[in-house]
Amino acid sequence: MSERLQSKSNIWITGASSGIGEAVTQALTRGGHNLVITGRRQQPLEDLKAAAPERIVAAAGDTTSKEDLKSIANVLEDQGDLHMAILNAGTCEYLDITHYDSDVIEKNIHTNVIGTARCVDIALPALRRTRAKGLPATLVIVSSSAWWFPFGRAEGYGASKAALTYFAQALRADLAKEGIDVVVVSPGFVKTPLTDRNDFPMPFLVTADDAAERIVAGLAKGKNEIAFPKRFTWMLRTLGALPQRAIDRMAASMARKSTNK
Ligand SMILES: NC(=O)c1ccc[n+]([C@@H]2O[C@H](COP(=O)([O-])OP(=O)(O)OC[C@H]3O[C@@H](n4cnc5c(N)ncnc54)[C@H](OP(=O)(O)O)[C@@H]3O)[C@@H](O)[C@H]2O)c1
Repeated sequence: MSERLQSKSNIWITGASSGIGEAVTQALTRGGHNLVITGRRQQPLEDLKAAAPERIVAAAGDTTSKEDLKSIANVLEDQGDLHMAILNAGTCEYLDITHYDSDVIEKNIHTNVIGTARCVDIALPALRRTRAKGLPATLVIVSSSAWWFPFGRAEGYGASKAALTYFAQALRADLAKEGIDVVVVSPGFVKTPLTDRNDFPMPFLVTADDAAERIVAGLAKGKNEIAFPKRFTWMLRTLGALPQRAIDRMAASMARKSTNK
């Protein structure tokens, strides 16, 4: 039985102001945990805090800014032992291949990879202090299953999430001897303000509340890999097992259809 989330825990969650992060914040608030919540916009954080002002601290900031993260580190320290950091803040910018622009790739990498890596600058020392007391310490990184298949237009987003998953799994290897868990969350399509912008069909779309429930349940069970919904992740895994030539044909045909639309 995992010790994670079994008792009242101190948790930092980034990207709490919207979508999956907001729903995870609400689920953890219902679970009675103490939360430090981060996003760039202050107002949505204050709205979430209103549900349990004595257990939620709003620490607004840009996760790519070392300066902002320094202030957030002070807030985390004031809250005592950090048991879990959920690094969920992220973006998705699609590439228009007719006007190829490497800025699109850079924006995805900057927010999703560099921003998350900078959050680890402040999360890891705090988790290490907690672990040194013999308490459970967990680093959770929200990646995506999107990079398991070469989706057209997702060059930047997919590359950022592939990098993020590798980053997290390598951290898991390095931190195993310290007993710090590293969890990778790989959602399929989740209905959030981020995906509301998509102009293509999203198979097996789940709600943000559903996603949050699966994430919190997976964490409590002690899972280190949380991927959902299963129908979508199995489909991607099956496609991924095909010869590369078959994958390329299918990906090109999907990209053509999406461009024609
Ligand atoms: N929705 C999906 O289908 C799906 C699927 C797989 C993975 N994911 C991943 O799940 C995570 C959450 O996505 P979502 O769909 O919930 O999107 P969302 O509704 O757009 O939420 C993104 C969150 O990240 C925060 N954020 C973005 N850039 C930030 C920055 N530089 N500094 C601080 N906070 C920042 C936003 O807050 P502010 O705007 O207030 O800064 C917001 O709270 C992302 O990592 C995304 O890649 C989503």
